[in-house]
Amino acid sequence: MEHLCSRIGPVLALLFFLSVSRMHKVRATPNLDLPTIVLVPGAWHSPVHYNLLFSRLKLSGYPIISGRLPSCSSPKPQIETVAGDADYIRETLLLPQINAGKDVVLVMHSYGGCPGSAAAAGLSKAAQTVAGKKGGIIGLIFVCGFIAHEGESLLSTLPGDKFNPWVIEYGNGQLGVENPQEIFYNDVNPTLAEAAINELRNQSQNSLETPSGPPAWLEPYYDGRRAYLICTKDDAIPPIGQEMMISNSKVPWDVHQIAASHSPFLSQPSVVADWIDYEIAIFQSVGSNLTNISDSTVGANATSPLMISPAEFNMTLAAVS
Ligand SMILES: *[C@@H]1O[C@H](CO)[C@@H](O)[C@H](O)[C@H]1NC(C)=O
Ligand SMILES: *[C@@H]1O[C@H](CO)[C@@H](O)[C@H](O)[C@H]1NC(C)=O
Ligand SMILES: *[C@@H]1O[C@H](CO)[C@@H](O)[C@H](O)[C@H]1NC(C)=O
Ligand SMILES: *[C@@H]1O[C@H](CO)[C@@H](O)[C@H](O)[C@H]1NC(C)=O
Ligand SMILES: *[C@@H]1O[C@H](CO)[C@@H](O)[C@H](O)[C@H]1NC(C)=O
Repeated sequence: MEHLCSRIGPVLALLFFLSVSRMHKVRATPNLDLPTIVLVPGAWHSPVHYNLLFSRLKLSGYPIISGRLPSCSSPKPQIETVAGDADYIRETLLLPQINAGKDVVLVMHSYGGCPGSAAAAGLSKAAQTVAGKKGGIIGLIFVCGFIAHEGESLLSTLPGDKFNPWVIEYGNGQLGVENPQEIFYNDVNPTLAEAAINELRNQSQNSLETPSGPPAWLEPYYDGRRAYLICTKDDAIPPIGQEMMISNSKVPWDVHQIAASHSPFLSQPSVVADWIDYEIAIFQSVGSNLTNISDSTVGANATSPLMISPAEFNMTLAAVS
């Protein structure tokens, strides 16, 4: 994100103009104008892995909702599917917010992009408005996430339809990860990485092999409302793979890069939080007279010190959602 840092000034000015309160990083009560952020974890991961990111987004006033996917740590991995994960996301994470009239931004990490996109289908703010409802999804954010077309699985997006060599196939429907320190956390503080590794759980093989439903990201409403963070040091999904999925989607994205592993939410949580905040400001301004946040004015304070400790990582999810 080097090129972003030199442009902090104009962005701050613009965000300040959009909403003064947004620039106050500490607020006593959540700002009702801010959408709820729903985060879908990647395979093997749980909400606790994103706590550092959550804590920073909460400081900006965002309500956060997340949950562990049914396909992760399942006692019956054979019956788990990407469709089952999508149902869970829709019924448990998205609909309660939307039915309560809340605007939602869906953030998807890695595999979370497959079930998250299917779960969001038809729930855009535009579709909800037509249905006479108040809330709805106003934007889609992918953090090195899988972009699967209808009928594609995570596996089918991989070269040769084969799992990477670092995926352990236990033969009982569970998948593990060989050397997660390198594959997921190569830029993460080693103590923190160890804590993160302790929180990894087996992933249902079936969930990564079953076909995804029609994805929300194809809906024209999301033009100007799709954002993708390419992680250039990602050893799980190489950046070229991320670029190919973006290009194969054939729809426009606001794409940014970060020199990070598969887990920028652990190595650079403040930068990711600032980027998400920035993207949400764009989503909120689409169609209004304030739509002049262009790529050339992206900002994230990559120079802020990252005070990350395993204890902070341990914050309970209850405190977050
Ligand atoms: C994953 O599943 C394998 C095979 O069932 C089991 O041996 C291993 O302990 C499990 N790992 C975790 C982290 O649950
Ligand atoms: C946008 O700007 C035009 C021209 O200045 C104005 O007529 C219009 O009301 C504005 N629309 C909104 C949504 O502010
Ligand atoms: C938006 O910014 C661009 C580049 O600075 C400028 O050319 C354009 O006139 C601006 N549009 C509006 C509506 O202000
Ligand atoms: C960026 O971080 C540095 C270091 O904490 C801080 O001094 C500076 O004020 C920050 N800049 C902005 C624009 O937030
Ligand atoms: C984090 O939580 C785990 C499990 O609750 C605990 O065993 C560990 O000691 C904690 N680590 C720190 C640094 O607080």
